[in-house]
Amino acid sequence: MALGLLWLGLTLLGALQTQAKDSFLKLILSPSLSTVPLQPHFRDDQFQGKWYAIGVAESTIQNGTESQLEMYSTTFELNDDHSYNVTSIMPKEDTCDLWIRTLSPSVRPGQFTLSNMQDYPEIRNYTVKVVATNYKQFGVVFLKMVLTNSVHIEITLYGRAKELSPELKEHFVKFSKSVGLTDDNIIFTDPIEKCIDE
Ligand SMILES: *[C@@H]1O[C@H](CO)[C@@H](O)[C@H](O)[C@H]1NC(C)=O
Ligand SMILES: *[C@@H]1O[C@H](CO)[C@@H](O)[C@H](O)[C@H]1NC(C)=O
Ligand SMILES: *[C@@H]1O[C@H](CO)[C@@H](O)[C@H](O)[C@H]1NC(C)=O
Repeated sequence: MALGLLWLGLTLLGALQTQAKDSFLKLILSPSLSTVPLQPHFRDDQFQGKWYAIGVAESTIQNGTESQLEMYSTTFELNDDHSYNVTSIMPKEDTCDLWIRTLSPSVRPGQFTLSNMQDYPEIRNYTVKVVATNYKQFGVVFLKMVLTNSVHIEITLYGRAKELSPELKEHFVKFSKSVGLTDDNIIFTDPIEKCIDE
């Protein structure tokens, strides 16, 4: 009887551990979108304009703390149909790289999808969520891109200015870790003048 209970206990413990390990792995590979918060009462008009990328957490960044990434800017321009033209300007060697995409509103305010998905057959799902913002200082934006054979997660901490408080950065790190990323996936950018001030 006692042995039976012990055995049952151990089996349960084992099952729980296995479950925990499995769900942890799942979390890393593919955090569920429904667990990612969305800024309540998102105001797309107020989120418009230019933002500086202060922090970037990405599932594909390997040596976060040791890597260097130059600051880039991302500008959101609202169209009449509530989609955004999103333009990022990134310094690259002697030039500035321009990356333009259009995000269409999705199921809820603050959630978006890529407008011309059909041009990227390898992308199965592309979901952007504005996790939190106060519009005037900071914004945290979550991207989950499901490709045929992989999932790409990217979280960006945006600032209206090139600097944000240590508290906001700490929150960003905590949030990134809550969806399964680690310090190695997180980079804070180096403020620069090139490209982004034009
Ligand atoms: C990144 O990490 C890998 C594996 O730990 C290591 O071999 C490599 O030297 C690191 N790269 C940098 C730039 O630190
Ligand atoms: C967004 O881009 C489209 C296509 O280039 C352009 O026609 C439109 O005017 C742009 N919208 C804004 C608000 O700049
Ligand atoms: C992508 O996934 C989200 C969340 O599951 C869903 O709401 C959305 O409809 C999907 N989009 C496409 C284009 O499949």
